[in-house]
Parts: sequence; structure tokens; C-alpha cells
Amino acid sequence: MSKILAAITAVGGYVPEDILTNADLEKMVDTTDEWITTRTGIKERRILRTPGKATSDMGVEVLLEILRKSGIDKDEIDLLICATVTADMVFPDTANTILDKVGAKNAFGYDINAACSGFLFALTTGAKFIESGMYKKVVVIGADMMSSIVNYKDRTTCIIFGDGAGGVLLEPCSDGTGVIDSILKSDGSGREFLHMKAGGSLKPATIETVTNNEHFVFQDGKPVFKAAVTGMVNTIKTLLERNHLTKDDIDWLVPHQANMRIINSVADQLDFPIEKVMINIHKYGNTTAGTLPLCLWEYEPQLKKGDKIILTAFGGGFTWGSTYIIWNYG
Ligand code: UT7
Repeated sequence: MSKILAAITAVGGYVPEDILTNADLEKMVDTTDEWITTRTGIKERRILRTPGKATSDMGVEVLLEILRKSGIDKDEIDLLICATVTADMVFPDTANTILDKVGAKNAFGYDINAACSGFLFALTTGAKFIESGMYKKVVVIGADMMSSIVNYKDRTTCIIFGDGAGGVLLEPCSDGTGVIDSILKSDGSGREFLHMKAGGSLKPATIETVTNNEHFVFQDGKPVFKAAVTGMVNTIKTLLERNHLTKDDIDWLVPHQANMRIINSVADQLDFPIEKVMINIHKYGNTTAGTLPLCLWEYEPQLKKGDKIILTAFGGGFTWGSTYIIWNYG
């Protein structure tokens, strides 16, 4: 019998119904559908507008779908890890709110804050709890309500982000399928280019921080773009090498959905066919920790047992990395 791995045995996803199109944004800031489409590949994004609803509510939808599909009971969940930068509150964590809202009594939960790489960091962490034999059912969710921290008067950021969530159930498996390997990286000096200035301990909220729009995403896009391509390409290459794979062995590449030009550059530099790259950026924009599981959710019907998949992401921190999985079902 081969080693126990953490297999993905169910996927869930959720995007809010309300759509914000490029045409809508043309009325809000000085931009055009043409600029947004050619510079980012985004046509529309989803926005959670229901009063009183937050990131946890999208996570709840994801978890309920996972429970439905897998047939497991909520009280069988051992652990829920939620990757997010838009927690319902600064504390407590969103994972516990999700568990409470579905009435799951036996699990413990916590959040991981690694921005757009959050799902990869959480997936790798969750997989280790399964591989160690400590837990049998771990749910990993990536969820972000970016509309809560985006300035809809700043054309450089408001065109990019959207709201959404996705997640997976991890269970022990010994048939060789599951999370095989991850390369995860951080470089804190990148915080200069992508951050939220106020609301943390460095600069607690004041009238001035609100007036100066310091509770919104700040991004200097160009350096982030460059570092994103290099970071994803390098970690994918190392991951392939150390698992004795070539790009031709890979059935699917699942890149973070930040910019279609970034996705194209990564595929080009790896000489990887774009038909085997999961893409939904045109519909949802950048949902931060939500992008990777939302791709798996949408492409799930096309996945087959044994498919070799590489997930890759880059985000605020900087944080980045790539994860190699072998698909468990389908
Ligand atoms: O997910 C986390 C990681 N984030 C990323 O990976 C995002 C990485 N960065 C990017 O995707 C791109 O840098 C952006 C989409 C954010 C910006 O695209 P860009 O090609 O780097 O544009 P830029 O910032 O260099 O701006 C080019 C021009 C500027 O005008 P000037 O100075 O050349 O006259 C901007 O003011 O485009 C202007 N511009 C816009 N014009 C119309 C910036 N935003 C817009 C806009 N509509 N929405």
C-alpha cells in the first residue's frame, strides 16, 4: 500500500448573483471596456450586495455544496481552514463563523492570510494534517469579498477584483491520488507594492485614515505583474523537475486569475498549451483566495481520475507558489 495522501474528494463553489460589468464601470470611473478587456481579460465580476452578508456567507454556500456532494455529515468535519484577506471581522476568524453558521460542532477552524496565494498555503497545510494521520476530513476554503475593500473611485484596482469563494474536501487516500508536492514562497519586501494602509496595528482606523481612503486595496500593478510571472514560472519549473515531470505530463494548469496577460505569459514561458489552462477570469475577475478553487469547481466535470494538475498563485505579501496534485475522481 502506498503512502497516505490528502485527496480532494469534493469541490464546492459560490459566486454572488449580482454582476458588475465593464459597461457599469465605464459609468463609475474613467475607463473603457476596451482598456479593461485588453489589459486584463476581465469582462465582468460578481459583487455580494445583500446587506448583512459577508465572506463567511459565501464560505457557508461552499461548505454546504461540499457536504451535499460528498454525503458526509457536518459533524464529521475535523478541521476547516479558510484562506481570506476579507475576514468578516478583524477577529474572530471567518472559519469559525462558517462552522457556526452550518452548525458543525466537532470541527475546529482558523484562517490563513496569504492573499491570492491563500488557497495554496491552506491546501498544503490541510494536506499535512491528513498525511500525518491526525485528521480524516479537512475542508479548505478560499473566500474573499473584495468589494468590501475596493475603492470604486480608483480605476487601477476597482476593475480587477470581484467576490467569490470555493473550497475542497480533503480525505486520506492510498491509491496515489492527492496533494503530491508544494513549493511555497514569501518575500515580505513586496508588501510595499500591494497592501491596505490602515486598519491594522500599524495604523488603526481614524477619521483621517477613512478620509484618505486608506482602508482600501493599494496596488502598484507593474512590479506585481513582473514578480507574479517570474514567481509562478520558477516554482512550476522546480516542481516539475523535482517530481520528474515535463510539461507534457501535466493535464491541467490552474493559475491564479489576476490578469489574462499574466496567465498568457506563464503559459508562454512554459510552452504550455492554453487549452489545458483553466480560465474564468473573464467572468469573475480576481477573487483573491477564491480563484483557484473556483477554477476547480467550474472545470470539475472535465476532470478525470489520475489527471495531473498544477495549481499556481502569486499575491500580496508577496506570497507565491505552486502545488502538484493528482485528481482523485471522475
Ligand atoms: O492578484 C494579486 C496580484 N496582482 C496582480 O497580479 C496584478 C498585477 N498587475 C496587473 O495586472 C496590471 O499591472 C494592472 C491591470 C493592474 C494595470 O495594467 P498595466 O498594463 O500595468 O497598466 P499601468 O498601471 O502601467 O497603466 C497604464 C496606463 C496608465 O496611464 P498613463 O500613465 O500611461 O497615461 C494608467 O493611468 O493605463 C492607465 N490606466 C487605466 N486606463 C483606463 C490604469 N487603469 C486604467 C483603467 N482604465 N482602468
